[in-house]
Amino acid sequence: MEPKSWVPSEIDVSRPSAARMYDYYLGGSHNFQVDRDMAEEAIELWPELPKIIRANRAFLHRAVRTVSEQGVNQFLDIGSGIPTVGNVHEVARRWVPDATVAYVDRDPVAVAHSRALLAGDDRTAVLQADLRDPDAIFGDPALRRMLDLTRPVALLLVAVLHFIPETDEPHAAVRRLVDRLPAGSFLVLSHASPPSRPEVSASHEELYQRTPTPLTMRTEPEIRAFFDGMELLEPGLVRIAKWRADGSAGDLADHELAGHAGVGRLR
Ligand SMILES: C[S@@+](CC[C@H](N)C(=O)[O-])C[C@H]1O[C@@H](n2cnc3c(N)ncnc32)[C@H](O)[C@@H]1O
Repeated sequence: MEPKSWVPSEIDVSRPSAARMYDYYLGGSHNFQVDRDMAEEAIELWPELPKIIRANRAFLHRAVRTVSEQGVNQFLDIGSGIPTVGNVHEVARRWVPDATVAYVDRDPVAVAHSRALLAGDDRTAVLQADLRDPDAIFGDPALRRMLDLTRPVALLLVAVLHFIPETDEPHAAVRRLVDRLPAGSFLVLSHASPPSRPEVSASHEELYQRTPTPLTMRTEPEIRAFFDGMELLEPGLVRIAKWRADGSAGDLADHELAGHAGVGRLR
């Protein structure tokens, strides 16, 4: 096993981790052979996967830039994964040098790696919590130190809500989070959508059956409902790679598998 300085001692690096596989898809270096092997298997089953993930990440960057340009300097990134390739605080600080970020994930592996990577950065915090538990998130002293909830915050729910099944009422969960934020805050959101081509649906189903976290894809109107009561920034809710496209998503620009994305402003 490769010894690496960012690996917390409590982490089992002999088992693949979804968070480190995600880092591998993004071209990051925070992964191990065991992660790469499993990721390669997933890619064989679903060749577009790395492109989709990179398109999602490119949307995240464009959205962070957009809200930073609107004067936001505080970010609450829930379902953040391992903040490695183009993480939120680095992107935001290109536009607002004093940006603070609270990273939240429920996965202990992602949290442990995040804490190790961000140690020494006193303008970031890492919380282990579930997005369905706003009291745990907003009651955490680390979040309170990082975010001033009397000023606008950008809430990032990027590629995470499709892990919340309908039985857990994802729309109500988002509402409970948004209700804690002041007017002028933003919701940055991307979400998987069902592909219309039957030949890709089959490979999707097969892949999801093999993962411990089943995915709930949602239609455009279902995703739009997460923005209820908000003003959607231009161009509205669109395919992920189309949101203020700048060419960085490459040949995925028109790809239906990339899901939908949008940025809403709280009134
Ligand atoms: C696909 S990754 C997205 C990472 C990053 N937001 C991005 O788009 O590049 C989804 C992350 O959401 C986390 N997650 C899933 N369900 C969650 C929940 N209920 N609460 C908090 N985090 C969750 C997973 O552990 C994982 O790290």
